[in-house]
Amino acid sequence: MHLYYHNLWCSFLKGSALNNAELNKNQIKIPGAEIVQREKGPVCAARAKEITSFIVMDVLERAKELEGRGEEIIHLEIGEPDFDTPEPIREAAQRALAAGDTHYTHSLGKLTLREAITAFYRRKYGVSLAPEQIIVTSGSSPGLLLALSVLMEEGREVILPDPHYACYPNFIRYLGGKPVYLPVRGEEGFKYHPAALKKAIGPATAALLLNSPANPTGAVYNGHELAELADLGCPIVSDEVYGGLVYGEEAHTILEFTENALVIGGFSKVYAMTGWRLGYVIAPPAYVRPLQRLQQNLFICAASFVQEAALAALTRCDSHVAAMVEMYDRRRCYLLERLRGMGIAPPVEPKGAFYVLADTRAYTSDSLSFAFEILEKAKVAVTPGVDFGPHAEGHLRISYANSLEKIAEGLDRLQSFLAQSKAKKG
Ligand SMILES: Cc1ncc(COP(=O)(O)O)c(C=O)c1O
Repeated sequence: MHLYYHNLWCSFLKGSALNNAELNKNQIKIPGAEIVQREKGPVCAARAKEITSFIVMDVLERAKELEGRGEEIIHLEIGEPDFDTPEPIREAAQRALAAGDTHYTHSLGKLTLREAITAFYRRKYGVSLAPEQIIVTSGSSPGLLLALSVLMEEGREVILPDPHYACYPNFIRYLGGKPVYLPVRGEEGFKYHPAALKKAIGPATAALLLNSPANPTGAVYNGHELAELADLGCPIVSDEVYGGLVYGEEAHTILEFTENALVIGGFSKVYAMTGWRLGYVIAPPAYVRPLQRLQQNLFICAASFVQEAALAALTRCDSHVAAMVEMYDRRRCYLLERLRGMGIAPPVEPKGAFYVLADTRAYTSDSLSFAFEILEKAKVAVTPGVDFGPHAEGHLRISYANSLEKIAEGLDRLQSFLAQSKAKKG
């Protein structure tokens, strides 16, 4: 498609043979062809055009615009810890910068950091890894791109839950793959049903995507459930960026149950380091060299002094993480109690990450318009469910990565908005 327009545009530029005098500047006439409208803007690759917007960012950007006009918005949309990055992490980065640690590192990441990641997995999960299995990346998003890149072939499929993290299908499509959605039901805690998975896995399946704790549902798979998924024998891409943010559940990694997995880890959520951009991939040995070659070409390495900061996160911040987890849990309990009172709580309690997928289907089947209406009228920013797949339509994702006071105020506003909405509906 883009090539077609490109060719038309070239003909237009050559133009002398064409009689364009009576056409307006957005129309092109080439001999033997109909008049066509020229595309506005630069010629853009179809691959890039197919990427859909990350709607939560659209909500955030509109909220910022309203704030710029003096409105006071309560932010319950963004998946970003409200906490400052813990002091030992900031100190380590400052020390590294002062010492001139500003050069390229090994493409896999500093050995000290990779060793610290292996020590962390041994301590937390009892899993034995080699530092050579780890590729340190500039956030878990590049890690996801690398991991999917070594698995995808044109036309191959990745099974993912619906609802799912908004960006997954775009990553898959961008790499020429096909996302295959498996609906997960609120009544079943938004988790995969092994029997349905067994049916969905076929010769075209490149991988099964797992995200536990999950965005946007807060679902957490227990050890037994993870073992069942591992037993299916399908390669697993396990996005564990929220690993450790669990409430009343034991934290697990898929690596306790299988080696046939590429694990994506990150520092953004657990250590309140979203702006630092650091993550990693843990891969079976056969994948490491291809991953490394991609890393060298696409990113070279992750930021050197940020790797020092991550080392401090893993070795000196257990108590900081525990305090944040305790605070998230208090907010989660409060939020769930309020949502139950409003009749929009999910049927099964979410046990991880920092999101609740509120069921507002009694109010809307168009979550996008609904979320923007809530933002404009109630001044509360929430994410429309449709960002996370068709099965999340009619829902709103509420993030509790904000203070209890702000959450309380946001819910007061949402409650009055819903009451008015119901009254209007009659
Ligand atoms: C499930 C999931 N994976 C990956 C990411 C990206 O995280 P990072 O900041 O490490 O790139 C996010 C961010 O919201 C997420 O929710």
